[in-house]
Amino acid sequence: MSDFLNYSELRRLAKRRLPRGLFQYIDRGTEDENALQRNRRALDAVRIRPRVLTGGRARSQSISLFGETYATPMIVAPTALAGLVWHKGEIELAIAAGANGMPFCAATEAISSVEEIAASATAPIWFQLYLWEMEEFTRDLLQHTWNAGVRTLVVTCDNAVAANREYNTRNGFGMPLKFSGRNICDVALHPRWALGVFARYLATGHVPSFANYPDGYRTSILAKSRALRYDLDISWEHIRRLRDLWKGNLVLKGFLRVDDAIVAAKLGADGIVVSNHGGRNLDSAVAPIEVLAGIVDAVGERMTVISDSGVQRGSDILKLLAIGAKAVMLGRILLYGTAVGGMAGASQTIGMLRRELDIAMGMSGCRSFRQMDRSLLEMSGEANSCLAEAAVSGACRRP
Ligand code: GLV
Repeated sequence: MSDFLNYSELRRLAKRRLPRGLFQYIDRGTEDENALQRNRRALDAVRIRPRVLTGGRARSQSISLFGETYATPMIVAPTALAGLVWHKGEIELAIAAGANGMPFCAATEAISSVEEIAASATAPIWFQLYLWEMEEFTRDLLQHTWNAGVRTLVVTCDNAVAANREYNTRNGFGMPLKFSGRNICDVALHPRWALGVFARYLATGHVPSFANYPDGYRTSILAKSRALRYDLDISWEHIRRLRDLWKGNLVLKGFLRVDDAIVAAKLGADGIVVSNHGGRNLDSAVAPIEVLAGIVDAVGERMTVISDSGVQRGSDILKLLAIGAKAVMLGRILLYGTAVGGMAGASQTIGMLRRELDIAMGMSGCRSFRQMDRSLLEMSGEANSCLAEAAVSGACRRP
């Protein structure tokens, strides 16, 4: 067992374990990190008005998503390079997720391929897609993904341009990774990572690369690859085509507006993720929790609404679910858990969050998600008026 009791302690352990460039790539936001801080401030600004004397010892976190039942309302968010925080990190995290009854969303920019991850997994694997300019590569990847048994596709929609993450430039943390005296020192100062992760990849005969990339483009993270560009011109037309192509569940990620959510529903998406990419993309973006209520009210009957960005405690999860999210994605916290202990560290992190959520539910008088509604919440800011209305009427607006 690793020695952490909460997010802050876990983050500190991960910071010690990982080279600075890699840690900052995961941990930080973009530009002045306003969105990163706003995500926390907005979650903290929501208070819970607990119900008392509701009895009932047994609480259930069980939910149903796209026809599958899960033990907990958490989903492993797609994150690039999870395979660099631990040797075969994506596989370790996917196994931990399966053991804890939650889905794992594999990323296009993973170090292990979606096939490898799916072959080791014990719960449904979802797949996150970035669209390449060469459409035939994307089609090919989708075929592999389907053949691997994936039935839920998550398309990232909030990456129209590369985010302005200045710390990555300073740290030489790009693709390929840049060698500099400072980076070599950084790795040398983290021998457990250097030996336990990087050297283990080398010992098995390969430098880590993006395993989902097409043949000929799958060069190592240290080498300059043949140009494989993402399509920076993606539009609703791409979503229309994907809807025709992908026969499984289609989830669109990175929504912060009601009008966009309505278009997504009209085009036949099965779900959306209300997200500002963990505060990593547009530094002036609203926090998801500020806009979630309006989006759930507009499309929650037609689509599964999921949310993420800034979640660090079980009570954060309760707040998002009480507003109307069906589940919550977790990125950084699970990467830290994986970084400090692989599968065991990830499992310990999930267990910690489940315990915190259980306490928040018990304290709030909720035995299951059926008792969670907006009347439990008090919130300042833009979303305040719909929450206040629900609080007065006691209405449950969960679709
Ligand atoms: C990729 O999606 C990132 O946030 O780095």
